[in-house]
Amino acid sequence: MTNSAIVCDKLIKVYRNRRWEKILPPRYYLKEIRALDGLSFEIAEGEVFGLLGPNGAGKTTTIQVLAGLLIPDSGTARVCGIDPVTHPDEAKRRVGVVAGGNPRQLYNKLTARENLRYWGHLYGISGHVLERRIDELLELFGMTERADDVIEKFSAGMTQRIILARGLIHDPDVLLLDEPTVGLDPKASREMRSFIKKRLVGESEKTVLLTTHEMHVAEELSDRIAIINHGRVIALDTPEALRKRANGGTILDVEILNANGRLLQTLSTNGLQVLSSGDDAENPALTRLRLRAEDEDTALQQIIEAVLGHRDARLIRMDVREPSLEDAFVFLTDQSDKEAAANA
Ligand SMILES: Nc1ncnc2c1ncn2[C@@H]1O[C@H](COP(=O)(O)OP(=O)(O)OP(=O)(O)O)[C@@H](O)[C@H]1O
Ligand SMILES: [Mg+2]
Repeated sequence: MTNSAIVCDKLIKVYRNRRWEKILPPRYYLKEIRALDGLSFEIAEGEVFGLLGPNGAGKTTTIQVLAGLLIPDSGTARVCGIDPVTHPDEAKRRVGVVAGGNPRQLYNKLTARENLRYWGHLYGISGHVLERRIDELLELFGMTERADDVIEKFSAGMTQRIILARGLIHDPDVLLLDEPTVGLDPKASREMRSFIKKRLVGESEKTVLLTTHEMHVAEELSDRIAIINHGRVIALDTPEALRKRANGGTILDVEILNANGRLLQTLSTNGLQVLSSGDDAENPALTRLRLRAEDEDTALQQIIEAVLGHRDARLIRMDVREPSLEDAFVFLTDQSDKEAAANA
């Protein structure tokens, strides 16, 4: 990759907290959490890169290192060629950080305009240039009419728009968006996605690193996605390629009436894997299964034969679909958890 806007190379970050324990002898114990464990990836200029991972995987920690807000224990990071550890002020000028759903980024008692003015001043912007920029951003986020209301009077979604405006005030080249659509209503979320796609990337050619727990947001926006777990990249690819890596194969949603234990056992052999099973709340005789199959044709035949082989059983419904990004996410993170447990 030639022009990398962001580089993480073998980043390690261990949080060390001192904790008072009353167990004998009562004293401070050191609790260590390895948030980043050799994290590496590169993001090209103008790319939208999705960083996905379970809670606690290390996404926010990564963003804080790239933004020059947190020093890693080892490894290197670069944003626009700048090392955020040795040159945090330069890095901060090139990077805009948006921590979704965290209202502490704004002063509650100040108005939207006053907040943006304050942040503009911190970045060394002032006068007409700043006022014009603030008007532009308020207009862009549909907040012109609420510009002079204090933040504590805003809904979560309105606050989120001002948080995003704050991250953009100094026109940064790289945007680190930590859950930018959290708390937004479906329409506002769609507007935010369209803004990221059209304005930030389409027109201004910014580089975007995005974290989210909403798979459809990641899928719609990202050119490539890294799934991380326990501070390491466990998969990195385009959204389509990742979907296919949900153990390859096909997902089958099946409903069977009067399925007994023996039938269910027959179904979980020969390349068929039961992902979930449960009985219908209103009709306990109806079992719903989600299966993953290596090969679709063999699986269909196997399910039909299994049901025919059990006298009372009846096949009610069978939907066949491609694995979704969510399937891939669950499969890959489960697999990495199992490997971690086996190596522990
Ligand atoms: N300031 C801190 N002190 C101690 N531990 C921390 C601190 N910040 C984060 N951690 C720990 O580091 C790990 C990674 O946290 P991080 O916030 O980076 O995860 P995340 O991927 O952003 O999770 P989420 O999806 O929940 O936002 C977690 O185990 C978390 O408890
Ligand atoms: Mg986080």
